[in-house]
Amino acid sequence: MSEKLKIACIGAGCSGTGQITLLEKYSPGSVVAFCDVSRSLFDKIINSYMDGSSAKEAGDFKTYATSLRKELKDIPFYTDPEEMFTNENINTVIIATYCRSHYEMVEKCVKRKMNILLEKPLAISEKDVENCWKLLKNYPKVATVNFTMRGAPVSRAAKKHVQGGTIGRMVSVQYVNNVHYGDNYFRGWMRTREKIGNLFLQKATHDFDIINSIIGLKPISIAAFGSRLVYGGNMPNDLTCNDCDRKWTCPMSIYKLELEAGKPLPGKNNRLCVYAQEIDIDDNQAVIIQYEGGVTASYCQTFNAPQRGGQRGGYFIGTDGIMHLRYYGQFDETSKGQILVGNSQIDITRYHEKPGSIIHEIYDWNGHSHFDGTEYGIMAKLDLLNGRPTEILNTIEEGYISAKMCLAAQKSIETHKVVDLGLNL
Ligand SMILES: NC(=O)c1ccc[n+]([C@@H]2O[C@H](COP(=O)([O-])OP(=O)(O)OC[C@H]3O[C@@H](n4cnc5c(N)ncnc54)[C@H](O)[C@@H]3O)[C@@H](O)[C@H]2O)c1
Repeated sequence: MSEKLKIACIGAGCSGTGQITLLEKYSPGSVVAFCDVSRSLFDKIINSYMDGSSAKEAGDFKTYATSLRKELKDIPFYTDPEEMFTNENINTVIIATYCRSHYEMVEKCVKRKMNILLEKPLAISEKDVENCWKLLKNYPKVATVNFTMRGAPVSRAAKKHVQGGTIGRMVSVQYVNNVHYGDNYFRGWMRTREKIGNLFLQKATHDFDIINSIIGLKPISIAAFGSRLVYGGNMPNDLTCNDCDRKWTCPMSIYKLELEAGKPLPGKNNRLCVYAQEIDIDDNQAVIIQYEGGVTASYCQTFNAPQRGGQRGGYFIGTDGIMHLRYYGQFDETSKGQILVGNSQIDITRYHEKPGSIIHEIYDWNGHSHFDGTEYGIMAKLDLLNGRPTEILNTIEEGYISAKMCLAAQKSIETHKVVDLGLNL
């Protein structure tokens, strides 16, 4: 693409404003407008960067952004995307609304022939995922799905090892995601089926995409179990830890967790009671996946790991060896959210190697979110938009496959049956 980038964002919260900030950091002046039902998260996040700090609401898109242009905080704001399209000269749109609105926004952008930087998941219902795939499968403009971990140097290294034959032919994968900040998903808008579908679509979608990309194979069918054993209950939906008289006694109070476990306080928009009535999504799931060629994989995710008990990654087992990928190789975060040490590690042991030999790699990501994938991911999007080559493509097809896996896993939980993916590639 040779025309000047004119980017707008629909849904300017943690991710949307995070992407605006990063695009402005690497391509100053490229973001021209934004649309949201409320501008409060945009204001909080951008104003904090202007002040030389970063608001908690910047969440996992937090970056160093000390030299943003001052006019960014005053770019035109809309509550109606159509009005924004009509009034502004735009060629590229970030879609980062609540997941249930992704497809509706994709349709609007396709009508206007925009480049589309879509947040994951593609959509949250079978119908919307298929329709989204139909619209974008052969889309002539740039269209990406935001799998932020794909840009992480450790993800790229793991893929190179497996596809370069370091562990021989793939046999199986054993992967876990025990989320130490999992309670956050139950303290804000992500805790209902209506808004996110399920936590496969919210969380596992990244891990499914990582497994797919590392092994380079297509999934065929899925079986899963899931339940809710930790969160939900009878508390009012609008109750926050701030207003609760059990603030210092409830085991899941953000204040008690900060005091006793050194767990950083979440942003003010993520302080709702985790025992609220409206919570209706599962909080733990176990999945098995059949890939082409007979390769098998297992995946488990839980959302109640202790602050220092987070684990993400797994074993990739090949005919010639085993690769152990750990996104949290070493991780130490203070109660103020400062990361003292953060790195990912790869260990590879091989069949025909001396017992004391091992490939051991460390990828430092301290100070960078998504295991150092966020910034590289945004740079890759700028490469695509400017017609330059990049290895981090984050294609719609990858988003489609991962979303279909999530939907199939949920269907398996509900039907107690193995579900064929029926990918329409
Ligand atoms: N790729 C990643 O690593 C990653 C990380 C976090 C979130 N996400 C995704 O980003 C999206 C947003 O999540 P978030 O954490 O930024 O949430 P958030 O609450 O911080 O921000 C969402 C924003 O979208 C706005 N919004 C919601 N529906 C809208 C609509 N119909 N029209 C206009 N604005 C609307 C909200 O008012 C809010 O400002 C979700 O799809 C989520 O899955 C991706």
